[in-house]
Amino acid sequence: MQLSGKVALVTGAGQGIGKATALKLASYGADVAVVDVNYENALVTANEVTNMGRKAMALKVDVTNPKQTDEMAQSVFTELQGLHILVNNAGITRDGLLMRMSEADWDAVIDVNLKGSFNCAKSCIKYMTKQRWGRIINIASIVGITGNPGQANYSASKAGVIGLTKTIAREMASRNITCNAVAPGFIETAMTDALPQDVKEKLLAQIPLGRLGGPTDIAMCVVFLASSAAGYITGHVMNVNGGMYM
Ligand SMILES: NC(=O)c1ccc[n+]([C@@H]2O[C@H](COP(=O)([O-])OP(=O)(O)OC[C@H]3O[C@@H](n4cnc5c(N)ncnc54)[C@H](O)[C@@H]3O)[C@@H](O)[C@H]2O)c1
Repeated sequence: MQLSGKVALVTGAGQGIGKATALKLASYGADVAVVDVNYENALVTANEVTNMGRKAMALKVDVTNPKQTDEMAQSVFTELQGLHILVNNAGITRDGLLMRMSEADWDAVIDVNLKGSFNCAKSCIKYMTKQRWGRIINIASIVGITGNPGQANYSASKAGVIGLTKTIAREMASRNITCNAVAPGFIETAMTDALPQDVKEKLLAQIPLGRLGGPTDIAMCVVFLASSAAGYITGHVMNVNGGMYM
């Protein structure tokens, strides 16, 4: 699972799963571009990567903006001398029952989670094509497969990410670019901290392994999918959920 000589770009890497992923990729030898709308957080993660002896850069990017994602890919390719691994991790929730969900909440979630993944993949793929080597890993969700009351926007965005993953896998296979998704279950981050205690307890009761996941549980799967060890895997959705869905 060695990643030395590879340049990884992780979106939403200022905190949570994205941050853990950026640090794990660095610990396996990759240089890392840390991308987030929150520049201060991105800078902290990038400094941690530098302290590990890898090259890093922090970029303030809103993944919903294709001009910004094009500039992002170009500056990473130029400054870090390559762009081999893209992790589409930036994501948001705006939960509410369908009957009461506003158009703004629907659009915001689809824009970041689905269009953001499309924008970043499109911006990065041309550099991966030049290198004839690429790994795209999209962070989906268990609810993109199962659905979830109160998450029409979020589950639709994540189901969309799974469709996007399979299409990129088919379109780019001949260029030696693989594309896979990781579908986390419930992982302890700021996103799930917001859930009420009784909801957390009900979720826990549905997890055979008896605990919520940690960001590192997801990060290690990303490292594997980014590595040469996973060179024959593409179009796959890897469930990382403690057995909650199988
Ligand atoms: N935590 C979970 O239980 C869980 C479960 C399934 C899937 N996921 C997915 O994992 C990913 C990471 O989740 P997390 O729990 O670490 O969330 P988080 O809220 O802790 O972190 C998300 C990061 O994305 C950044 N971001 C948001 N909008 C952005 C934009 N427009 N452009 C760039 N960056 C943006 C935020 O600033 C933040 O740093 C998300 O895609 C989420 O949907 C999380």
